Amino acid sequence: MSATVNAHYQQNLDTDRIIAKLQSAYPEGPDRFQLAPVDQLHIGGIKASLKLVKRIAELDVTSILDIGSGLGGLMRLIEQDLKLSITGLDITHGLNQINQQLSSLAPSNSSPQVITGDAHNLPFKSNQFDLIVFQHSLLNMPDAVQVLRECKRVLTEHGQLLMHEVLQGENHSEMRYPVPWARNADDSHLRTESELLAMLSESDFEVEVFNDWSEEALAWRQRQAEKEKQSAGNTTPPPVSPALILGPEFGQMGPNVIRNLSNRAARVVEVIARDA
Ligand SMILES: C[S@@+](CC[C@H](N)C(=O)[O-])C[C@H]1O[C@@H](n2cnc3c(N)ncnc32)[C@H](O)[C@@H]1O
Repeated sequence: MSATVNAHYQQNLDTDRIIAKLQSAYPEGPDRFQLAPVDQLHIGGIKASLKLVKRIAELDVTSILDIGSGLGGLMRLIEQDLKLSITGLDITHGLNQINQQLSSLAPSNSSPQVITGDAHNLPFKSNQFDLIVFQHSLLNMPDAVQVLRECKRVLTEHGQLLMHEVLQGENHSEMRYPVPWARNADDSHLRTESELLAMLSESDFEVEVFNDWSEEALAWRQRQAEKEKQSAGNTTPPPVSPALILGPEFGQMGPNVIRNLSNRAARVVEVIARDA
């Protein structure tokens, strides 16, 4: 298990506080939009996840693995909207525990399966899933080739990968930290577009879709920053925010995401690839 990934996501976690805040603000149970500030831990929020759900609805898949499922925002949307079987795998046990509690708080009371484990060594038998999703999680994994090898093993024949990931931009040397997925460069594993495409091809995956979502990711983060500024001067700020998971450094992470996307130090992309 990676000690630094665990430390990054767990060092500020206070499960009881998060659950208590949600219960007191939303006694009927939080809906997907009320949960989004904590369970959609990627650039683009619930809007990006709903785009992925739409994409998945167009693919012919029944069993899905979400690698690096975090607090499970995407998993719950897939289960609720598409009624598909989805398993979450995440290396950070504390996040998995909250994920399960959030599922039981939500009015739909769905409870997708969540397992603690490392993507470099998947705890599953071969040929189990039609689709594997990575949403801002490959960016934490040092050995993407090994992860892709494992994906290939657990995917069914011609199974697919769907990635919503952060890549290096042309000006990666200008990258600023901390960012929501890493406090420093050592824990951030962003690849260039050509590195990712080469790794997929070497692992025998054929890329079917490659879209650059950077512009809308930047616009989304700028809107969030505006909302955060307004709520700071508000007497009743929103009950939950990403700072409850990522800690006080979230105050620097948000602006750094804006700088990194504006400077093209980083990019946000959607990729679909098929086991060739
Ligand atoms: C930026 S968060 C994204 C969480 C979620 N996919 C989302 O978009 O809300 C990255 C997630 O990847 C998980 N992760 C990082 N390295 C991993 C590994 N080697 N195996 C499984 N999960 C991993 C982290 O614990 C964290 O929950």
